[in-house]
Amino acid sequence: MVAEARGYRTVEFLEHSEMDFAAADRLHRIGTVRLEPVAEDDELQSAAQRRLAAFRSRRTSRRPYDSRLVGAELLTSASSIAAAQGYEFRSTTDARIVSLLVQINQKTLFSDLRNDAVYAEIMHWLRFSKDEAAALADGLSAETMIMPGPVLRFAMRHRGLWSFPVIGGLIRAIYLRTMRGVRQLGWLEGPFDEPADYLEAGRTFMRIWLFFSEKGVCLHPFGTVITNPVSHAEFVRAAGISETAGRMAWMLFRFGYSATPPAAHRRPATSTLLSPLPEDTSIQEPVRE
Ligand SMILES: Cc1cc2nc3c(=O)[nH]c(=O)nc-3n(C[C@H](O)[C@H](O)[C@H](O)COP(=O)(O)O)c2cc1C
Repeated sequence: MVAEARGYRTVEFLEHSEMDFAAADRLHRIGTVRLEPVAEDDELQSAAQRRLAAFRSRRTSRRPYDSRLVGAELLTSASSIAAAQGYEFRSTTDARIVSLLVQINQKTLFSDLRNDAVYAEIMHWLRFSKDEAAALADGLSAETMIMPGPVLRFAMRHRGLWSFPVIGGLIRAIYLRTMRGVRQLGWLEGPFDEPADYLEAGRTFMRIWLFFSEKGVCLHPFGTVITNPVSHAEFVRAAGISETAGRMAWMLFRFGYSATPPAAHRRPATSTLLSPLPEDTSIQEPVRE
């Protein structure tokens, strides 16, 4: 997605295997990517430079949005980006549906945390202080969730309290305050049946996210509404989506305009590469089956 800005095109040899969540090394090989130098082209270069800048500046915004709607022209471009990959981008400004789905997203968060496996996974990634977030550079920080670290730590360590009317109500109110000004939701529909689909879906989502970033539009995925079966069914019903064999609504997000969100620390690119080769080493053509 950003290699062009450095003067390369990518040649991919993808393996398309299902993830093995029990794998001892906790690694999943996606494939081999080779970078090939390409001839300079001024027009392509400036588009590539814009995309690289968006790649670097893109941040999830969990802040309140400012109620401005993203205009029809940008929505049409986002639809074209999705269509070019065989997917459909749809959105709504229907206040009833937006409010319902924001509530469903909040309820999903609460109900997922009652599930021990999900709770353990989230606790593993949460970072409650800025120092911890910076040192590990791999998690979900209180700062990016617009929550004071000690409050988040207390709330997460005492999830039983979330079921009490007063404390549960307070946590719900704090969370929903971050959703003020949300007037528009978007989602992506299309093939999502096998590993090749998952990769193309991810690529499509990232293209749309980078395009929005370039245009100053913020986004916050509601991924848990997709993965929680009860919430997913409610979302599909509310938005009038028909999911047929192999096709589904696989991503839902709020989008709009907000103040600059806090940065999530990132691992270096090399942390997702296996045995990176020294610059002057050539590799053998991977064999395609
Ligand atoms: C497939 C997918 C699903 C996600 N679902 C959620 C979600 O349900 N709630 C949330 O707060 N963030 C969600 N995120 C946002 C990521 O957690 C976010 O990208 C991550 O915290 C890194 O921050 P950054 O986007 O600012 O780099 C999701 C991201 C992806 C790619």
